[in-house]
Amino acid sequence: MALERKIACVDLFCGAGGLTHGLIEAGVNVVAGVDFEEACRHPYEANHEGIEFHQADVAELDPSTVAQWFGDCRVQVLAGCAPCQPFSTYALRYQKGGTAAHDQRWSLLNHFGRLVEELHPDIVTMENVPTVTRHAVFKKFRRRLQCLGYRVWVDVVDCADYGLPQRRNRTVLLASLHGDIKLRDPAASEPRTVEDVIKDLPALRHGATHKSDRLHTASRLSHLNHLRIQHSTPGGSWRDWPQHLVAECHRKKTGKKYPAVYGRMRYDEPAPTLTTQFYGYGNGRFGHPTQARGISLREGALLQGFPPDYSFIADDRPLPLKALGRMIGNAVPVDLGRVIGESIVEHVKQHDEAFGSRAKRRQPIERSSLSKKHAGGRNGDERTRRSVHA
Ligand SMILES: C[S@@+](CC[C@H](N)C(=O)[O-])C[C@H]1O[C@@H](n2cnc3c(N)ncnc32)[C@H](O)[C@@H]1O
Repeated sequence: MALERKIACVDLFCGAGGLTHGLIEAGVNVVAGVDFEEACRHPYEANHEGIEFHQADVAELDPSTVAQWFGDCRVQVLAGCAPCQPFSTYALRYQKGGTAAHDQRWSLLNHFGRLVEELHPDIVTMENVPTVTRHAVFKKFRRRLQCLGYRVWVDVVDCADYGLPQRRNRTVLLASLHGDIKLRDPAASEPRTVEDVIKDLPALRHGATHKSDRLHTASRLSHLNHLRIQHSTPGGSWRDWPQHLVAECHRKKTGKKYPAVYGRMRYDEPAPTLTTQFYGYGNGRFGHPTQARGISLREGALLQGFPPDYSFIADDRPLPLKALGRMIGNAVPVDLGRVIGESIVEHVKQHDEAFGSRAKRRQPIERSSLSKKHAGGRNGDERTRRSVHA
């Protein structure tokens, strides 16, 4: 068996599978994905044959269930890219006394830490927004890993340096029980542009869906926004428009700070950071470089590194623009997932002996030895419940 195939990974907060897809491309054997959104089941399972999606709340996940998913593989990797909204710059602004301070989603990092503490996987990885490192909950998570004996590497990287046709700064954490680990360096050949990935897609009108690919759907523009985008230049802003098209709020001093909204992307550069609302022309520099519309869901997925035929929704289901925008915009870019996977594979090769001897020593996790309060899951699916109570 190739060394890579002996590495088993469980992907917590797996979403539509961006991270999983990249890890698989690097040769990591992903054995299960967990997310509490049932809508993630289709993209996760349809694009990754044989990998089970478990609809469950990570806060209630029993470590013995995860241990069963790992089986008796030689190297165990636990990935956990928790939701980034509570750690974003926007949330940070409201941290003191505001609602973000009470956001329950913060504690998901503590639950990830709890699973690491109980399972002791060989390698741990997570991805989040750059500002996550400023939060106490992240500092605590990092310290917890160090106390458990992990060598921890954390840095902010721009995914564009790793071949993603999008500028996207993200914090990446890699931790190993078997020596120093870090993300591999970028290769000089990697930069890609918007043109490289979306230029050959069929032309589309705003509000239309392409007949051969439902995901190639662009949202409808109001008459005013349709006029505006025709006056927008790639990389430019609403400052290029004739005065009568400029919104009242942009004429004010405060509005002048947001030149990117209602902008068009440039073909010859990576895209700006996609948000969960990238399909809306007014939500950032998300206008198509040459056509009078915002980018389509498919174009967004390509800019996130997904392959052109990645299926996000079953053919017989309606297309929920908002939910799909969230799934795609929230994904760990596939290119970043692949680089994380390559770095893990390289690390395992370097420390093969240490991984082998630990695998021999590893005790099967007994359900009785684990905290009973986490048994079962309020939102667990049938398969999860069956394995919990096996
Ligand atoms: C940043 S996204 C993950 C992206 C995913 N790793 C990818 O690469 O496509 C965070 C995900 O966490 C999920 N989530 C949020 N709270 C959760 C919870 N308590 N338990 C399980 N999943 C949760 C959301 O539904 C969302 O899909």
